[in-house]
Amino acid sequence: MKILNTHAGLGGNRKKWGPGHEVTAIEMDPKIAAVYQKENPNDKVIIGDAMEYVKKHRNEYDLVWCSPPCQKHGRMMKATRHDVADYFDPTLYQLIIFLTHFYKGKWVVENVKPYYTPLIKPTCVMGRHYFWANFEIQPINVPNIKGFITNSTANETQKMKDWLGIQYEGNIYYGKNHCPGQVLRNCVHPDVGLHILNESMREGLFNKLT
Ligand SMILES: C[S@@+](CC[C@H](N)C(=O)[O-])C[C@H]1O[C@@H](n2cnc3c(N)ncnc32)[C@H](O)[C@@H]1O
Repeated sequence: MKILNTHAGLGGNRKKWGPGHEVTAIEMDPKIAAVYQKENPNDKVIIGDAMEYVKKHRNEYDLVWCSPPCQKHGRMMKATRHDVADYFDPTLYQLIIFLTHFYKGKWVVENVKPYYTPLIKPTCVMGRHYFWANFEIQPINVPNIKGFITNSTANETQKMKDWLGIQYEGNIYYGKNHCPGQVLRNCVHPDVGLHILNESMREGLFNKLT
């Protein structure tokens, strides 16, 4: 299957897809993209803007998976004593509406449970994730790790790497975030990524445009 994996991050969702698929990954951060490429040497990794790529190239793929940034939607926005109040990032809903109306292959958009009632009802709620998709997704138990939210020391960060099966030297910081665990917390667990890929292949590949 030809898969477009956008906002690819370290490739948590991609980790267990195996070598049988032709995957193009789009990731804006070069350091994060380098880890993804090392983990998945046969994938085509493009450092650039996923939103433009989806617009231009979506029809070259059988499945499009998008994991746009979740920081401005997640419940941490309201759980901290610091003032982080901000407008939400509209790319999540831009992608869902765009793919619903302008893409006939299978697609899935992933994000975290938001602090507000989602503007578009998700197809599936699984663990800490919401998934919007044009195929049915049966929820499974999402693997969890102690201290998921707080893990930040070198030792704890290594445990997160082991939990995901993604290894790299030292720390990578996500944007302006000072916690080395954040880039790992951004990942979809590989078991969930594999489950969703399998769900996407349960029926035929192409749908009618709505
Ligand atoms: C939630 S993480 C992705 C997690 C990934 N699905 C996984 O399972 O490992 C979102 C990623 O999108 C990247 N990103 C943010 N905006 C982007 C854009 N416009 N184009 C490409 N990548 C972007 C961030 O650098 C970050 O690594």
